[in-house]
Amino acid sequence: MKRIALFASGSGSNAEKIADYFADSADVDVTLLLTNNPKAGVIDRARRGFGKNTHVPVLLFDRTTFYNSDRITQFLQQQQIDLIVLAGFMWLMPAGLVSAFPDRIVNIHPALLPKYGGKGMYGHFVHEAVVAAGEGESGITIHFVNEHYDEGQIIFQASCPVLPTDTPDDVAHSVQVLEHTHYPRVVADVLARL
Ligand code: GAR
Repeated sequence: MKRIALFASGSGSNAEKIADYFADSADVDVTLLLTNNPKAGVIDRARRGFGKNTHVPVLLFDRTTFYNSDRITQFLQQQQIDLIVLAGFMWLMPAGLVSAFPDRIVNIHPALLPKYGGKGMYGHFVHEAVVAAGEGESGITIHFVNEHYDEGQIIFQASCPVLPTDTPDDVAHSVQVLEHTHYPRVVADVLARL
């Protein structure tokens, strides 16, 4: 059994898709959900059992614990986590955690990296920048995580058109459809190669 730890800071729609995708799996266990945000919608989703009534324990941590101690890394190692999956997690992963899980941390970014990545480029800011630049397409990038924002090796990309009349909300919707369609399956592919 391969064990996943999800990290999320926000609404958690991607975390829910992943939890539901593996809910009946004999090979993959969504073992933990970690969050830095006590108000994150993902906590309510986990308490409800996501979409398929699965129990995933939630660990809430603060900035000091994350950046000034090894406690999160040690906890993940004790829990024998095989893959860390960032699903709308907004803090940079500390170097010690990245080096403890080489090629075992994946992230989803709501744009076609290397465009529209880096510090401050997350969530709705990305879609606003894409529309402001008059881009004809956007999409998703699933990539391994290193200690820099949005720079690790790309695993998968998918694109969607951006029409001249599209608002950032329209782009967000198209991108979210791609995220929900592809992220669970790509995570399964990465796990199968471990
Ligand atoms: C997703 O669109 C994800 O790509 C983005 O946050 C959203 C989380 O949505 N991540 C980033 O911007 C990371 N730089 P969700 O909470 O509904 O899954």
